[in-house]
Parts: sequence; structure tokens; C-alpha cells
Amino acid sequence: MGFKEEIERRRTFGIVSHPDAGKTTLTEKLLLFGGAIHVAGAVKSNKIKKTATSDFMEIERQRGISVATSVMGFEYKEIKINILDTPGHQDFAEDTFRVLTACDSVIIVVDAAKGVETQTRKLMQVCRARKTPIIIFVNKLDRPAGDPFDILDDIEKELQIEVTPLSWPIGSGDLFQGIYNIHEQNLCLYSPSIQTIPEGIEINDLTAPDLEEHLGKRAAQQLKEDLQLIRELYPSLDRTAYLAGAVAPVFFGSALNNFGIRELLDCFIEIAPSPLPRETVERVVHPDEKKFTGFVFKIHANMDPNHRDRVAFVKVCSGMFLRNAAYLHVGQGKIMRFSTPTAFMASKKSIIDEAYPGDIIGLHDTGNFKIGDTLTDGEKLHFKGIPSFSPELFKYIENADPMKTKQLAKGIDQLMDEGVAQLFVNQFNNRKIIGTVGALQFEVIEYRLLHEYGASCRWEGINLYKACWIEALDEQELVNFKLHKAQYMAKDKWGRDIFLAESPYMLQMAQENYKKLLFHFTSEF
Ligand code: G4P
Repeated sequence: MGFKEEIERRRTFGIVSHPDAGKTTLTEKLLLFGGAIHVAGAVKSNKIKKTATSDFMEIERQRGISVATSVMGFEYKEIKINILDTPGHQDFAEDTFRVLTACDSVIIVVDAAKGVETQTRKLMQVCRARKTPIIIFVNKLDRPAGDPFDILDDIEKELQIEVTPLSWPIGSGDLFQGIYNIHEQNLCLYSPSIQTIPEGIEINDLTAPDLEEHLGKRAAQQLKEDLQLIRELYPSLDRTAYLAGAVAPVFFGSALNNFGIRELLDCFIEIAPSPLPRETVERVVHPDEKKFTGFVFKIHANMDPNHRDRVAFVKVCSGMFLRNAAYLHVGQGKIMRFSTPTAFMASKKSIIDEAYPGDIIGLHDTGNFKIGDTLTDGEKLHFKGIPSFSPELFKYIENADPMKTKQLAKGIDQLMDEGVAQLFVNQFNNRKIIGTVGALQFEVIEYRLLHEYGASCRWEGINLYKACWIEALDEQELVNFKLHKAQYMAKDKWGRDIFLAESPYMLQMAQENYKKLLFHFTSEF
């Protein structure tokens, strides 16, 4: 197969949902359909259970599981599918945002009974900002659910995206009879089964008596009316609009019962994008360029505290990646060779000789990489679109053991490279501030500093609302601002100016008094 065909047959995507909507179950069922696994239950959930908030061993154990399921590659109908796993726990939302930067499209799972939930809404903001193509899977139809039209209304309103249903449920809960595949015009009758894959019945003519035979008179009539209404209310599938992130196709089913998955997967491989061109600071990189480029979107620490080596996950953006070839680590200006690059098929890891655009490779790292780093064939490029977001919680970090100052500094540095949290150094008093998305990360950091670096830390509360990246439309105004707000100025890990706003009011005052400065909650604007 030629280079172009290899690129075109790749689909790299992420599945996101609010915890418990069924992301892990859907992932597993997709692998089952793809023949990558043979029994249900083979993929372990990487979610950090609520009970684990203070159970560090549990957190560590679950981190271990998530390395195995970070990327799940499989082939389906000659399409190479890479599913990127995203942590479900909200305290790790930033990890999920970063994984999304490596996805060419996304499937969002929504619980049919609960509708769109908070976490999904937040993740959708990231997808919308990047215009990521989205398919929605409404799950758990085997349980009592609301009216499907109401579910679609909820999705449109909450996720602020136009929808186009491509399959349609017939009843729900005890009355769930099956799915009509609008896209392919066939009917799949429901029979609960966790292991087997149901076959669809071809029904091209909805006026034929078969429909009533299968569904009964009332349900058949209801389906016909629903389909008529769908034709009137929703646009038919427009792939261009889907690829632009403007319209989301919607499928219904029950992941647990393998139901509605085939419809989803078949349509997915047909319409989802192969690797897309990506912007760098310097220029746009096209996947079919001959020379290799890629970027690090995730770093995973080794589970063994005696070995501080890590795995850097790289998304190949263009060209072929070759084992042992010399590549430029742009950030460090260093030439590097990788003798044991790994790829992930199902939940197995193996050393590979080559990888194509769209693929994810794992590189053994001894501390050279941080999130967002670019690797190329020699060209100095910096990929965009891997932003940091303002943390929600902030604390000063202090050294609790003066004999271990170096260890603490190194530990903080490496954990920040991994993206566990963000470090800001207050320019006024030189104190280090750690910002996180959730409270759990402070505990993880403290635990890992002690167990992996032998360093002890102490936390001290600080009252901050947001960390804002500053865009100056007038350099002199920035100089004035920094003078007046010296106490609230910090630098991030890249040395960029940060305004630490204590409250929404303080931010508002800054915005009003310094009209030529723009304050952003993300590092890319
Ligand atoms: P998540 O990764 O999005 O957090 O969700 P996960 O797949 O772990 O699913 C959450 C719970 O919902 C699981 O039950 C799972 O079995 C169930 N579930 C998933 N899909 C369906 C479906 O289509 N129908 C029904 N009825 N249930 C579904 P659990 O009891 O929390 O976990 P487990 O003990 O079954 O693993």
C-alpha cells in the first residue's frame, strides 16, 4: 500500500463522556467489533473511582491501567482505527483536553436518561474551539429514557451544535425494540446480548407489511411518524458540515448490549476524517509531506518509582516515522534516535519500525520531553493547538525538607513536564505556585514527590481566581501594568507573563483600566 493510501485509511479519535455514561463500555465494544478482542470485559476502566480520593495506591494502580489503554489501535474493514483514551475523572480534565489535541475527530457518549452532563459540556467547548468533527452516541436505550426528540433538543441546546440523527430508537427500557438505521435504511431488532453481534434486517420500504410484523402496529406507526418528522426537522447528512464541526450526526444504542454499535462504526469509518493538516507557528503541515513531523501530547511516568523513565506519546503529523532515524527535538535543538518506539494494537504494546501520519507512537523518555514538544526531520517547527488552560485551584508549594531542595525542584519540574499541574513563579516574591484543575492533583503531586523523588512538600493556601495569559496590543501598556500589578505577576513554565487575578472583580478592573491588554484563560489565543 502506498504512503497516501496509508494516511487515508487512518482514523484517530477520542471518546469522551461524563463519567458513567459508557465511554469504557463503548471503547470495548468497538474493539470487539474490530476483532481486536474476543470477549467483553477485556478493557479495564481507567476511571479513578470516587472512593479513591485519598487512596494513593488506588490512584497509582489506575494510572498503570491507563498506560495500557492509552491508545487502542485496531483494523476494521481495512481502516486503521486508533482510539485515544481520555481520563473520565474531572480532576484530570486537562489531560483530556490535551489528548483531544491529538484527535482528528471525537465521539461523545451521552446517557439517554441523564442527557448532557457537566463534564461533556466542558469538553465540548474544547472541541468547538478546535472545530473538531463530532459524532454523538446516545447510550443505554435498554433503560427507560426520555423521548428521543427531547434528547436531541437537549444535545443541541447544551452542546450548542446542530444535530442530524442517523439512527433512531424504537422505544426504550422494557419497551426497547430496536434501532432503525436512517443512514443505511435498515432495521436492527433488539435482543439483549453482551457477547454476540446482532444482524440488521434490510427494510428499504417502510410501507411494506414487514415493518408491522416485526414491531407491531403501534410501534411501526410511531416509527413512520418519527421518521417523517426527522425529515422535516433535521438536515440530512452533510459531510462537509460534519467535518467543519458544524453538525453532529447522532446514533442511538446500548453499548453494553452491543446494540447500535455497528451502525455507529460503519458510518464512522465512512465519514470521519483521516489525519488533517495541522498548524505550526511557522506554517501549515500537511500529512502527506514526505518529511516526518510530530508532537508530544501526553507523558506517562513509569509505574516503578526506582526508574524515573517515562513514555512520551507522539502523534505523527506528517511523513513516515522510522525507528533509529535521526530526528530533531526542536525545543532542545538536540538530535535524537529512538531504538524502541512502540505502537499499540488493542491493549498490546509492540516495538515498531515505522509509523504513518495519524499513528500514535510511544517513545521511551529519560526526561527530555515536555507536553507540546515538536519532533521533526530537521525543520524548526512548533505545533500550535496544545494550549494550557487556567487552573481552578492554586496553592503555594514549600519545601518541607531542606536537605532535599534539589530533589524537590527536579520533581516539580518533571511532574510539570508531564502536565500533572501547572507551575507559576510569582515575580514579586519568587514563590512557586502550583495550579490544578481538581483537588486530587495536589495529593497526587505530594505523593509522587515523596515516592519518586524522596522530596517532601508543604502546601500553603492562596486565594486566586484565575491565571490569565496576557496579550499586549500596546507594549508600553504592558510595562505599566506590570509595574502597577507587580505583586500579581508571575511567569509560567515557558516564561510567559501571567496575571494572577484574585477575583472576578479584580480581573474586570484590570480589563477596564488597561484596554490595550487582553486577558486570556488559555495560553493560546
Ligand atoms: P464510563 O467509562 O463513561 O465512566 O462508563 P462505563 O463504560 O464504565 O459504564 C458505566 C456503567 O454503565 C457500567 O456499569 C456499565 O456497565 C454501564 N453501561 C454502559 N453501557 C450501558 C448500556 O448500554 N446499558 C446499561 N444498562 N448499562 C450500561 P457499572 O455497574 O458502573 O460498572 P460495571 O460493574 O458493570 O463495570
